[in-house]
Amino acid sequence: MQYYYLFILLVLVLLHGLSHGLGIDQASRLRALRGKRLGGERSSDDGRWEVLDMEDEGFFDSGKMEDDLIEGGLPGQPSGVLFKQYAGYVTVNELKGRNLFYYFAEAAEDPSSKPLLLWLNGGPGCSSLGVGAMVEIGPFGVKPDGKTLYLRPYAWNKVANTLFLESPVGVGFSYSNDSFEYNENGDKRTAQDTYTFLINWFRRFPHYKNRDFYIMGESYAGFYIPELADTIIKRNMKAVSSSIIHLKGIMIGNGIMNDLTDNRGYYDYLWTHALISDITHRGLVEYCKFPDSYECKKLEDHIELEVGLIDFYNIYAPVCIRSSNSSRKPRRHGGFDPCEADYVLRYLNLPQVQEALHANRTKIPYAWEVCSSVITSWTDSPSTMFPIYKRLISSGLHILIYSGDVDAVVSVVGTRYSINALGLKVIKPWHPWSENTKVVGGYRVVYDGLTFATIRGAGHEVPRFQPRRAFALMESFVAGK
Ligand SMILES: *[C@@H]1O[C@H](CO)[C@@H](O)[C@H](O)[C@H]1NC(C)=O
Ligand SMILES: *[C@@H]1O[C@H](CO)[C@@H](O)[C@H](O)[C@H]1NC(C)=O
Ligand SMILES: *[C@@H]1O[C@H](CO)[C@@H](O)[C@H](O)[C@H]1NC(C)=O
Repeated sequence: MQYYYLFILLVLVLLHGLSHGLGIDQASRLRALRGKRLGGERSSDDGRWEVLDMEDEGFFDSGKMEDDLIEGGLPGQPSGVLFKQYAGYVTVNELKGRNLFYYFAEAAEDPSSKPLLLWLNGGPGCSSLGVGAMVEIGPFGVKPDGKTLYLRPYAWNKVANTLFLESPVGVGFSYSNDSFEYNENGDKRTAQDTYTFLINWFRRFPHYKNRDFYIMGESYAGFYIPELADTIIKRNMKAVSSSIIHLKGIMIGNGIMNDLTDNRGYYDYLWTHALISDITHRGLVEYCKFPDSYECKKLEDHIELEVGLIDFYNIYAPVCIRSSNSSRKPRRHGGFDPCEADYVLRYLNLPQVQEALHANRTKIPYAWEVCSSVITSWTDSPSTMFPIYKRLISSGLHILIYSGDVDAVVSVVGTRYSINALGLKVIKPWHPWSENTKVVGGYRVVYDGLTFATIRGAGHEVPRFQPRRAFALMESFVAGK
């Protein structure tokens, strides 16, 4: 088996994170990873992507649902919240002590009639609790004081029971007893551990076992999600009926799909949105056919200089400028606060919050972070999801790929190139869609096998920037429309 390591990942992450003044470096990590892994040698095994055999010891987790109930709710949450929340660890490998942390918010009303939704953030290394739950789709967001929570108007638990997993080990509160394992994360083990997590989680929450199940997420989860879905479908064929997972659909936002087309889309997006010069664009197109080349790396660095301090995740959004004056009230711009990840960071590091979440009982020797800095290498990552997409499509899985159209990193242009390269037949051509208003929410194309939708005015974390439109899209997807 061929391994390769991304020793420079961390350095790049830090540089990108700082230079953009951002808290969520989900996309910067992705760019760093992409830049590093585009070498040609690796693509040979793409057609044979297969998770490792399950290790049996992963299947025995004796945790109890009642022990995971967050009694009295989360510290600082608003009053009058009636839905139940659970959080805790599921052991996915007993030998090494790999433990994955989850947070589960039941549907706000009538949870027993609602589907189950697993949300995954990307990175690799970013937290679905800190990003997905706390700044995108969870029931609560964190206020600027870093201590109290507000109710999110378009929380997705109005439609589904929402499960957030911090994955892989080394992310957030998820840990391994053997810290060397943080260097051994990769796509295959992530899919395997997540599958083991689900099997064990369903044992702990048996009344969810037969529920319609959806996997949703964004960014690098553009790989995690198809890989997990593929694993579930394969395992379901071998599994005894009691461990079949009722996977109905996957929904992926601004997710990576295929290196070459995604990358070309990145360069073309920057140029067509007036962020880089003609000459730089021409150079990128010319030299980054060989992304490991010196010329390409130099040009990629040059992008930073030409673009300057903007938010690559949402090119028209304000960036978080941290001020030492805590008394100064941060402004919410168009409904979103660019500094929100900072409040989440403070909140999730409060001892009383960790206690309420049943997190960090083993005294993890580093702080909770939005995107992990203990994961500094990544062992395996295919260069394309196309072979998996083809399998998923032929399995009849319901697939929605959506794209916020002001994200430069995994841009709508790249996603369109990628979907076009899949060569699917168009069933319903490009047309505008809207929520209940007359205003266009975005555009949609139905292909034979998947649906593609854009969300107007949304950046990389779509529900963060366009919560109402993202909610409407998810709601209609779950309703099978
Ligand atoms: C992992 O470490 C914790 C704390 O030291 C311990 O309680 C637990 O039993 C260990 N688990 C495994 C599988 O070694
Ligand atoms: C902080 O506040 C003080 C007084 O209100 C002001 O003089 C100072 O310039 C502020 N500093 C920053 C970095 O905003
Ligand atoms: C875990 O708790 C210890 C203190 O008990 C703290 O120093 C550390 O930052 C925490 N780690 C995480 C990941 O929350």
